[in-house]
Amino acid sequence: MAKKKTKFMCRDCGYESPKWMGRCPGCGEWNTMDEEVEIVSKNTRGAFRTEAGVASKASPITSVETQEEPRVETAFGELNRVLGGGVVPGSLILIGGDPGIGKSTLLLQVSSLLAEKGRRVLYISGEESVRQTKLRAERIGVTSPELYIYSETDMAHIRQSIDELKPEFVIVDSIQTVHHPDITSAPGSVSQVRECTAELMRIAKTTGTAIFLVGHVTKEGQIAGPRLLEHMVDTVLYFEGERHHTYRILRSVKNRFGSTNEMAIFEMLQSGLKEVLNPSELFLQERSQGSAGSTVVASMEGTRPILVEIQALVTQSSFNYPKRMATGLDQNRVSLLMAVLEKRMNMLLQTSDAYIKVAGGVKLDEPAIDLAVLMSIVSSYRDAAVGAGDVFIGEVGLTGEIRRVSRIEQRVQEAKKLGFRRAIIPSSNMGGWDYPEGITVVGVETVADALKEAFK
Ligand SMILES: Nc1ncnc2c1ncn2[C@@H]1O[C@H](COP(=O)(O)OP(=O)(O)OP(=O)(O)O)[C@@H](O)[C@H]1O
Ligand SMILES: [Mg+2]
Repeated sequence: MAKKKTKFMCRDCGYESPKWMGRCPGCGEWNTMDEEVEIVSKNTRGAFRTEAGVASKASPITSVETQEEPRVETAFGELNRVLGGGVVPGSLILIGGDPGIGKSTLLLQVSSLLAEKGRRVLYISGEESVRQTKLRAERIGVTSPELYIYSETDMAHIRQSIDELKPEFVIVDSIQTVHHPDITSAPGSVSQVRECTAELMRIAKTTGTAIFLVGHVTKEGQIAGPRLLEHMVDTVLYFEGERHHTYRILRSVKNRFGSTNEMAIFEMLQSGLKEVLNPSELFLQERSQGSAGSTVVASMEGTRPILVEIQALVTQSSFNYPKRMATGLDQNRVSLLMAVLEKRMNMLLQTSDAYIKVAGGVKLDEPAIDLAVLMSIVSSYRDAAVGAGDVFIGEVGLTGEIRRVSRIEQRVQEAKKLGFRRAIIPSSNMGGWDYPEGITVVGVETVADALKEAFK
């Protein structure tokens, strides 16, 4: 007979305690401790225990045999790139996102495309009936008989159906609806989510099935359940987007088999999601050329450069404390850049409100966007537009120097591709690479130099 144990667990951070507490000592949140009745049975604990229960032996790394596992490419090239080149067999991939953002649509499309290539896919939906899934499948045009749909939430049944069907890919939509029969706490609770994930991981690692999990996101934007969930899986992807736009961004925040910071852009259409192959074009589509406060930067998103417009609005403040607002970039960087302008360029910005926005709803966090942000601020402050064919790349230091950035060649090439005629870049980045034809490359050393170049 398995042993029963009652404990309290924080639903945010997974902190465990034998008694109830109003405030979680782990994360400091109030009223997040839930009672969990846990049954400790040998099978559900320890994800890597071998089937027979015999512990495996440690061995020298040189004697471990590897077969180069070929990655399975999905028909979405963009998804492959985010995953680091395709799906690794036996991996566990978690996709999180706001309600209604299109997680089920994305995975159903991926399943369908894999099935069309003759790979067996099992799509388990705990949220929708088989008919509902079928309706969506009809809308996005799924035809392959290799795609199996299953509406189930019981982990034991799921395990059994995977054993019987032996699919290469399994989709679990969503992990919060699945429950383990041995655990009495409600589906979606910390111990349920943890044990079900552990069980699925065991299935993935022992059978080589790649499993996609859909995870709900809390209002703070994290995947619901303990952070532990993110540690357990191999890859964590977030699917995000603005409610008012039709495009969605898939980004990787953890990847054991590839680089993070990669992102892919999809457009949500009636017939499902469509890849956006040239995001720079999309982001620059609505740019009104020649208006003050707008500049363009070539920012690296993982291995790919994208051109994004940065807009600034600097106005006389009517408050004692001027407002500083930044959307899509770090507000502290904006304050820092404004301080550099005040101190080094003697610009009186203390009494100005400043609103900075990365157009198109993307988030940029690399330092190479500094120069463009700074130029936007100056452009709006002086009410003078920068050249419509100019692109700005560079990090700004505290003494007003323009610092070197990575992958300059790729950035300039992307700018050239989209018809920009001049790239203003750090002078330390000049030389040592081939300047593309048709674009003038100008190196600047300080903020003062850059301003002189931009506002001739
Ligand atoms: N006929 C349609 N035409 C265009 N877009 C549609 C259509 N039907 C649904 N959508 C889009 O699909 C989205 C729902 O997608 P989906 O159900 O895949 O989201 P989800 O992330 O799985 O949501 P949930 O968290 O509820 O499971 C809707 O928000 C809408 O944008
Ligand atoms: Mg869904």
